[in-house]
Amino acid sequence: MIAATLRTQAASGLRRVDLGRDLAAIADLIELCFQSSMDAGGRATVNEMRSLSRMGPLLGLMALGDDMLKGIGQGFVWEEAGRVMGNVTLFPARVPPELGPVTVVANVAVHPDLQRRGIGRQLMETSLEALRASGTRCAILQVDHDNDVARRLYERLGFKPERTWHQWRRGPSQSVPSRGATAPRLTLRPANRWREEYALAERVFPQARGGLGWQRPLHPREFTRSPWQAVLEGLGGTTVERWIVLDVDRIVGALWARTSLTAGQTQLTLIVHPDWQGRLEDTLINYAIRRLAADYRPLAVEHPADDLAATLALERYGFVKRRTLQHMRLDF
Ligand SMILES: CC(C)(COP(=O)(O)OP(=O)(O)OC[C@H]1O[C@@H](n2cnc3c(N)ncnc32)[C@H](O)[C@@H]1OP(=O)(O)O)[C@@H](O)C(=O)NCCC(=O)NCCS
Repeated sequence: MIAATLRTQAASGLRRVDLGRDLAAIADLIELCFQSSMDAGGRATVNEMRSLSRMGPLLGLMALGDDMLKGIGQGFVWEEAGRVMGNVTLFPARVPPELGPVTVVANVAVHPDLQRRGIGRQLMETSLEALRASGTRCAILQVDHDNDVARRLYERLGFKPERTWHQWRRGPSQSVPSRGATAPRLTLRPANRWREEYALAERVFPQARGGLGWQRPLHPREFTRSPWQAVLEGLGGTTVERWIVLDVDRIVGALWARTSLTAGQTQLTLIVHPDWQGRLEDTLINYAIRRLAADYRPLAVEHPADDLAATLALERYGFVKRRTLQHMRLDF
């Protein structure tokens, strides 16, 4: 069925990506189509794609161990007069195996000269058909909340909105606040209390709404590590510190700080019991800034846009909203 679709569409320019031939052109297309929203990480990825495109026949081999290359290679392009003018990338999502296979749909782009001719829709339809045939359980994507064209396209193809998330960042040179005099105390979370923390997260980050964030399904792996996994993570330069706030002996708030050598920033996660919303956010954020000030790394937070109390607290502490992304999902 897919082969037949591709044969008929080949005449009009739709085909699978050929990494050796297309990688540099896909980098150019992504840069052009996403210039208004591309951050430093995106620019670094585009430059990496250009460098890799010079690897010649080795590329195919490298794609076996590199998720970015693998994803681009599994995608589709639209070619017009020998030029790559449209693209969809299909990455394997980094989710626990028992939840998968899940595919990330990314780099959906059509050259501005060819937009509104049905190319984006055809690229997406063919990609989804290929995913369905490959046994993928579901496809996920994120789209800027104000990108109405792309959002409507995905909705018409069957994607459902999960949740909208703000991405926040606070630079390391901003001032460090003093501790609030009456603030509740944070303590390190004992490893054996992860199930209570998980139960709390189920209430505020339900899996039906996408869990803890982008490619972070609500799953025990986010809460607990076997000693072996902890060693592996440590060797890879990743550390996760976890603190909680107790009301008598009940966990009512949690703060995680994940740092990795390669990320160049510390990722914070804030979890506040619904009964304590509006009362704990300042405490958690204040603690995170003071506790991590000596690291001199930017702090990053991905948090639901519907949580007004957290939004206001992050703004109060000088976090800047960088993007607002809607997460969408299509189950096959
Ligand atoms: C989103 C994008 C890939 C769509 O590609 P495209 O080839 O123009 O899309 P199509 O021509 O197949 O149109 C798809 C639908 O969107 C509608 N549409 C496309 N451009 C539109 C516009 N500027 N205004 C209103 N509707 C528009 C079409 O009418 C069509 O509707 P239909 O499905 O009811 O027929 C393209 O606009 C793009 O590359 N944008 C910049 C990058 C981007 O934002 N990518 C999405 C990231 S998540």
